[in-house]
Amino acid sequence: MANEQDLMERIVALAKRRGFIYPSSEIYGGINGFWDYGPLGVELKRNLKDAWWQDIVRCPPAGPDGRPLQMVGLDCSIIMNPKVWEASGHVTGFTDPMVDCKESNNRYRADQLMVIYAWDVEFGSGDDSQARRVFAFVHNDAKSFAAALSRAKKEAKKLGVKVVDEPPVLPLMHPEFEGYWQWVVGPDATEPGTLTQPRQFNLMFKSHAGAMEDSASLVYLRPETAQGIFCNYKNVTDTTRIKVPFGIAQIGKAFRNEINPRNFTFRSREFEQMEIEFFCHPSQADPWYAWWRDARFKWYVDYGLKSSKLRLRDHEKEELAHYARACADVEYEFPFGTSELEGIANRTDFDLAQHQKFSGRDMTYFDDETKERFIPHVIEPSGGIDRAALAFLCEAYCEDEAPDENGAMQRRTVLRFHPRLAPVKAAIFPLVKKDGMPEKALEIYAALRPQMTAFYDEKGAVGRRYRRQDEAGTPFCITVDGQTREDGTVTIRDRDSMKQERIASDAPTLLGCLQDRLRR
Ligand code: GAP
Repeated sequence: MANEQDLMERIVALAKRRGFIYPSSEIYGGINGFWDYGPLGVELKRNLKDAWWQDIVRCPPAGPDGRPLQMVGLDCSIIMNPKVWEASGHVTGFTDPMVDCKESNNRYRADQLMVIYAWDVEFGSGDDSQARRVFAFVHNDAKSFAAALSRAKKEAKKLGVKVVDEPPVLPLMHPEFEGYWQWVVGPDATEPGTLTQPRQFNLMFKSHAGAMEDSASLVYLRPETAQGIFCNYKNVTDTTRIKVPFGIAQIGKAFRNEINPRNFTFRSREFEQMEIEFFCHPSQADPWYAWWRDARFKWYVDYGLKSSKLRLRDHEKEELAHYARACADVEYEFPFGTSELEGIANRTDFDLAQHQKFSGRDMTYFDDETKERFIPHVIEPSGGIDRAALAFLCEAYCEDEAPDENGAMQRRTVLRFHPRLAPVKAAIFPLVKKDGMPEKALEIYAALRPQMTAFYDEKGAVGRRYRRQDEAGTPFCITVDGQTREDGTVTIRDRDSMKQERIASDAPTLLGCLQDRLRR
């Protein structure tokens, strides 16, 4: 576990050092739950969004009948009529249970707090004053578990009681703790009994549209992009020739006032979603759900998430939201634990029926061929771009060894991104800054730039330049050297195998060769 913590720290450090992700407004100390993407991060994220848009909207996969799915895109406003969020249930139901600590003034999501039975003393038996401190509080992740356990051990030593080696852990919200709240020591507290009872906290960010700040001007920043799609479903069927079954896709920002943003960008307050609402006949919802569930899992595998770290977890009946008939999560094993990247849900006709009820507009669909009228059922694959970017970053991160200029093996950090996701596709170097090499390298750079993200670097030893590109995840480095002038060839070095080959340096050959390799 300690190694995994370290690993996450190394990934976060690399993300900052190489310009993938910075804390937002860092010069003012940052702001919890908000992040900025740097020059490499923004390319990674854009490549991810482009890949999704291409694979879902522009060139959708073939459905079960072998024909390409009918898919279109939308880009809806972030602020919508607040009635949308009444109809969707977010105003009353989009809440998390929150507890406050009166000692540390920290705030926690009650359902994320865990209790360690650290002391080897039966509650209520023996010395009660000791037994009353048998609980220690942690977040449900390896780092805070380790911290809480070590704190528990220290306190136990002071009191002269024993801590079991592998203490049982339970969620605080477990019914067993109902009567014992006052004995619980909060994660950042020294004394027991400082945590308040949980209360519901609505996660939607509020603002006001217009000059008056009153209840009539209250608006919300959307907590999901999905509702923009539901509200436009009629517009889309009325203005295009699309027929059920079809899907509407959207990529866009979403905002949630998370109680505990954490795990780097994994749980942020501002993030981007990639959502599909797939509208189908009610009788076809189950097979379409199964189809999307498998298709979305495969998408992540295709872009390089190893299936051993990915899993598709079907929700238990008790876990399902009241409107969902089925739901599965694509989960990834991050260094901080296994967590959700995307949820695929069968939302039935819940959303359209709610909007029909609240707006008074007809949300039914008329099938010309069968002469049937119905409210379509919806399958929703809903993913987070920031979470996917983080998963691809973690998956790509690798430390191995590479020879330096003198052939001595050195540790290197390499990001083994899928070429389609790699922020920079090719780096171009002159071996040395003389003999016409920079000019030739700049010529190649100019030829490649319109076709792909390329990078030119002439500073420092070439080995170090390779290493810098390995760390940025650049799949190919092209070097102009002494032989280039003689036979017109350059070397092309592969990031993963570190093998170099000589190829012709004229633009069509180079471009063809790179494009071929990037497609692999
Ligand atoms: N329309 C359904 C919906 O929004 P969700 O499971 O709440 O479902 C979908 O969110 C996806 O959005 C999640 O799988 C996750 O990838 C991403 N997401 C949700 N909350 C997030 C947060 N606080 N930070 C980053 N990504 C988040």
